[in-house]
Amino acid sequence: MLAKEIRQKYLDFFQSKQHAIIKSASLIPENDPTVLFTTAGMHPLVPYLMGEKHPEGKRLADAQKCIRTGDIEEVGDATHLTFFEMLGNWSLGDYFKKEALEWSYEFLTDEKWLGIPPEKIYVTVFEGDQDAPLDEESIQIWKDVMATKGIQAELFDETISDNANARIFALPKEENWWGPAGETGPCGPDSEMFYYIGEGIPDFNQERPGMNDANFVEIWNDVFMQYDKQKDGTFKKLAAQCVDTGMGLERVTAILQDKKNVYETELFVPIIDKIRELAYKETENIRSIRIIADHIKAATFMIADGARPSNTDQGYVLRRIIRRAIRHAKKLEIKVEFTALIADIVIDIFGHHYAELVEHKAEIEAALNQEEQQFAKTLNKGTKIFEKVAAESKGEIDGKDVFHLYDTYGFPPELTAELADEKGLKVDLDGFEKHFKEHQEKSRQGAEQKFKGGLQDHSEKTTAYHTATHLLQAALRKVLGNHVMQKGSNITADRLRFDFNHPEKLTPEQKEEITNLVNKQIEAGLAVSVDEMTVEEAEKMDVVGAFKDRYGEKVKVYTIGDPVNPFSREICGGPHVENTAELGTFKIKKEQSSSAGVRRIKAVLV
Ligand code: ALA
Repeated sequence: MLAKEIRQKYLDFFQSKQHAIIKSASLIPENDPTVLFTTAGMHPLVPYLMGEKHPEGKRLADAQKCIRTGDIEEVGDATHLTFFEMLGNWSLGDYFKKEALEWSYEFLTDEKWLGIPPEKIYVTVFEGDQDAPLDEESIQIWKDVMATKGIQAELFDETISDNANARIFALPKEENWWGPAGETGPCGPDSEMFYYIGEGIPDFNQERPGMNDANFVEIWNDVFMQYDKQKDGTFKKLAAQCVDTGMGLERVTAILQDKKNVYETELFVPIIDKIRELAYKETENIRSIRIIADHIKAATFMIADGARPSNTDQGYVLRRIIRRAIRHAKKLEIKVEFTALIADIVIDIFGHHYAELVEHKAEIEAALNQEEQQFAKTLNKGTKIFEKVAAESKGEIDGKDVFHLYDTYGFPPELTAELADEKGLKVDLDGFEKHFKEHQEKSRQGAEQKFKGGLQDHSEKTTAYHTATHLLQAALRKVLGNHVMQKGSNITADRLRFDFNHPEKLTPEQKEEITNLVNKQIEAGLAVSVDEMTVEEAEKMDVVGAFKDRYGEKVKVYTIGDPVNPFSREICGGPHVENTAELGTFKIKKEQSSSAGVRRIKAVLV
């Protein structure tokens, strides 16, 4: 079964269970400053898991693009990927454990769907602790549902000798609990499904599901969002119980095709073939080939969603993965500009489902080519610095210099070592490691802080900035003209950033007029209201928003002010404040060019 068939079957299955199929959200979270990338299908849905109403209803399913960079050093082995697709279904206060587990099992085992032999499937549940009890409900549901396929399923019990019918394994929080995404918020016990790829029947004294045993491959996770983790670490019951699930498309595809790893599936084979075709080196370096395939694929999707190589935030991650791919291309002796060539193959494979890849093909190629050329220059500069360092060294290049070359000039230590070797010099690679680790620790702490900030702590401030952004866009359109459209938006707890198309710098008078207009709306204490409608209905009203490719979709429309003649009306997922009086005073901090024909405003509420 091809990946595209699995993806489609998944969506068809849940549609047949009355789920609305929603489009993948962008890889770059729109207004969530706590994380750089969308890391799970549930991520864009957090407000709805917390109780906000979703315009498409209480049952949703999708294939969500995800980026995880936590294990980036592991990429190149059989399982770790930077970019992956997560198939997911959600109940927003609708069905719960029974339906979720029954449907998961039906989809996995029924001949009409994936048709996995039921005897291949083992599951885990939460074993219970001081915060929540053993998940007996899930255990019973699993026993019942497996019995329908003739499987007598028992809970594994360490204290008895006969576990011949064990299919269900209870594990602690580290294994069978998911969330919250930040410090606080929705979370709960989960039940994971595993496919046994070993020969015959497993010996549970040797291997068990959920214990990182290679023969048990996790294919799906059903999370039962039952609790709202509080700041003090306690778990309060959520008013509405939700279900959040995630199935890794690449992994399931590999398993169903009996492939040893994800790179052997059609999601990667054409990319790998292209890399092999471009490489000069005869000897096979499979790790480098996989790193290039994974990283350029991730970069292609990131650029399609608006990221550009830079030295901060998403742009920094993007730059790092492109450059890492280029370094590995050097190992394979790829002698041509190759990143855009690989991106073209990625677009060929995924463009049919992710139209944004095709739409932004030219930009993807341009951004990759530019970064590749810039890095080549950087490497040239690095070579000059290396020559200087080498000339000054006394037989050995200092670890600090190796790190400086790496960190400032993007000069890989292997390259420094190679060049040094040619000159008969030694290289202090241990010293480099020491500096590298210290630096990594610093950036890791930074990233953790960013994540730990938590959606909850920021939510009030970011909500206010969200509403202020609508006021700003409306004011810009009134002062500069209706050509003004949003080109990008980014909100933190401290400021808003808004990109819009406009050919020239704003005059001081224009900035003042815009500021006054926004503040007038705040002082007027305008009500903010929300309506649900189809895109077609919204299009008939004077609504600002992206209509393209969204036909038939239901959307939320936020109106600020008089419903008949509002100050602002925009398609938006929310959330927003209820009244503009909550915003404080609006101030523009900076107005500058963002890119050709696009201006950027940074503004604060004080
Ligand atoms: N949110 C769950 C996960 O990412 C489904 O595994």
